[in-house]
Amino acid sequence: MDWYASHSRDLPWRGIRDAYGIWLSEIILQQTRVEQGRDYWHRFMQRFPRVEDLAAASEDEVLLLWQGLGYYSRARNLHTAARQIVELGGFPQTIEGLRRLKGVGDYTAAAVGSMAFGLPAAAVDGNGFRVMARYFGIDTPINSSAGKQTFTALANELLPADQPGTFNQAMMDFGALQCTPQSPHCMQCPLAETCTALREGRVETLPVKLRKTAVKTRRMGYVYLRCHGEVAIHRRPAGDIWQGLWEPVNLDDWQMEGYSPVLLRKEVKHVLTHRILLADFYLLETETRPALPADYIWVKEDALDDYGKPRLIEIMLEEVSKA
Ligand code: ADE
Repeated sequence: MDWYASHSRDLPWRGIRDAYGIWLSEIILQQTRVEQGRDYWHRFMQRFPRVEDLAAASEDEVLLLWQGLGYYSRARNLHTAARQIVELGGFPQTIEGLRRLKGVGDYTAAAVGSMAFGLPAAAVDGNGFRVMARYFGIDTPINSSAGKQTFTALANELLPADQPGTFNQAMMDFGALQCTPQSPHCMQCPLAETCTALREGRVETLPVKLRKTAVKTRRMGYVYLRCHGEVAIHRRPAGDIWQGLWEPVNLDDWQMEGYSPVLLRKEVKHVLTHRILLADFYLLETETRPALPADYIWVKEDALDDYGKPRLIEIMLEEVSKA
């Protein structure tokens, strides 16, 4: 914490007391790097300054503002939780209460609870796990459930009850800036004298991480189907990637037989967490509207901006505009 007093990152959600702004930052940062998250945080705070504003928005508007961040279930949960909070008459001020909000797990409840309300709960992310694995020389894999338990329990022992929020953020920054994954700065480290990994020459081999199972490749095909200045789109259903976002005609839904589409790009590679996508993009202009499944709608091309889309579809639309 002495180190943090002079090295902390200057982040806009720090030093605010508003639980809403802190919670919003934690949801955004769940799977997003701080640098990218910062812009989105400002945009959300500007458009929805209070939790009531977010709760009153439509899901479409929230998804649209979230566009580009990925993991869209986070945005849907954010919106649902905002409505829960308004219904409760304000933020829950206990860990158990926070935990009941949609999209808030143990980590996020501890982060918001400690930073907004001073609750004594350790919220340690991968950065903090790495610091502890090295400092104490623990080789339990940090991404295993045993590791999460071990390191969280340890962090709770270390946590100073009077400054839990500062401790939690100090661990994050110490991991992000000082005890980095590659080439940590051991020569200028305030913990060097007592660090187990440094003493035992294990800095390079700690922390241990389990290898995740190989990601599968999924092929996708899309056709930008234009008819008199309108284009067919539909909203992606539940139970698959990108639920609630919009996309042009998916070739799983419609066959192009008998038409002569233009191939815009083949096998565009797009990496998600659990999938690698390989997508083909086509452009097709027709005089009459082909019959499409019932969930498709036709919208003016210049209205496409109003529909939240996955990043891959944004890339496709850039290709269409160049064609
Ligand atoms: N990642 C998650 N929460 C964070 C925070 N409060 N500051 C920096 N990085 C974070």
